[in-house]
Amino acid sequence: MDLVAKYHVETDLPIQKAAEAIAAEQSTGTWTEVRGADNPLAARVIRAEGDLVEIGFPVELFEPGNIPQYLSVIAGNLFGLGSLKKVRLLDVDFPESLVRAHRGPMFGIEDARKILDVFDRPLVGTIVKPKVGLDPAGTAEVAAAAVRGGLDLVKDDETLTNQSFCPMVERVEAVMSALDRAEKDTGKKAFYAVNVTTGADQILERAEKAVDHGANMVMVDVLTAGFSALEVLSRNVKVPVHVHRTMHGAMTRDKGHGISMVVIAKLVRMAGGTNLHTGSYLGKMAREIEENDLCRDALRNEWHGLKRVFPVASGGIYPATVHANLDGYGIDCIVQAGGGVHGHPGGTTAGARAMVQAAEAWMKRVPLSEYAEDHKELETALKFWGS
Ligand code: 3PG
Ligand code: MG
Repeated sequence: MDLVAKYHVETDLPIQKAAEAIAAEQSTGTWTEVRGADNPLAARVIRAEGDLVEIGFPVELFEPGNIPQYLSVIAGNLFGLGSLKKVRLLDVDFPESLVRAHRGPMFGIEDARKILDVFDRPLVGTIVKPKVGLDPAGTAEVAAAAVRGGLDLVKDDETLTNQSFCPMVERVEAVMSALDRAEKDTGKKAFYAVNVTTGADQILERAEKAVDHGANMVMVDVLTAGFSALEVLSRNVKVPVHVHRTMHGAMTRDKGHGISMVVIAKLVRMAGGTNLHTGSYLGKMAREIEENDLCRDALRNEWHGLKRVFPVASGGIYPATVHANLDGYGIDCIVQAGGGVHGHPGGTTAGARAMVQAAEAWMKRVPLSEYAEDHKELETALKFWGS
């Protein structure tokens, strides 16, 4: 059974020649003929038409379970070949044997919902802001204020790890005890995704330390830390894993070159993420409607028995943009806002309420402006940021 990779290719070569160059470079060949290259591990051109190329890679080329090695084959040297002006890896059809070589999420959508006891609505979350600069007590205060406003998830930002101004252990302890107090007072359970991103030699130890000190979710910046970092966390740490995609734009932004978000989403599901930032239908990041749809389906559709992953809409979201994102992602998603919560004129708790109210209005199919008539935090948000 082959792995089939689909590429967009821009080149002055005839497209068949370009496709053959990719198949050769990424399997048995090189720039010139070599003895023995015509062997059963040679990749073959399935399609070469216009700017579209499909290559079939024999499954034996891959070491089951080794995502870094898969990428060196399907997304390796070819990106730098001088004869190709641009190449974009659009999608990958992984054979079942390679998918099943991974355990996927230990905690999928259904498990995360059970922990929170929330089944019939989208999850609403926040990123603590300012993204860096708060100390552990300051972080805890913001996190608890958000949960008191009804949010399901609070997360660190991608650049906060274990800097001296906010050491991770002190931060987890402070945030988790503030969330415990909030839960005692209000009954609201929430995740705190603490960012454990670091080098390969330390990441598991760091994540285990976070859990020992009370963390109920860990977060990893998957593209800077690597897919294997995510996989080691998912397999060993006994909490769900929130996956941030920082640096993705370097790969995903140019529609002619790089790697599409849907390929990243498939690898994250194989490697075991519980939640993955996939982009927003309306927000501050570039709008990638079609790619959002593909990512959503790659994360949630049946896929050789792997658990389902929450797509996360994040980046520049505020109450008035919640509808567009929920229309795109549906109920099984996380919609989250940083500035759109903490920048509310009434403060973080009011901002959290406004986000929850916007999601409630969507669930009830009530226009936002109408729902705002008797939900004052939403009303303020609509006035402040526009509707
Ligand atoms: C993220 O990591 O997703 C961003 O920090 C979102 O922050 P924002 O809602 O303030 O854009
Ligand atoms: Mg961020």
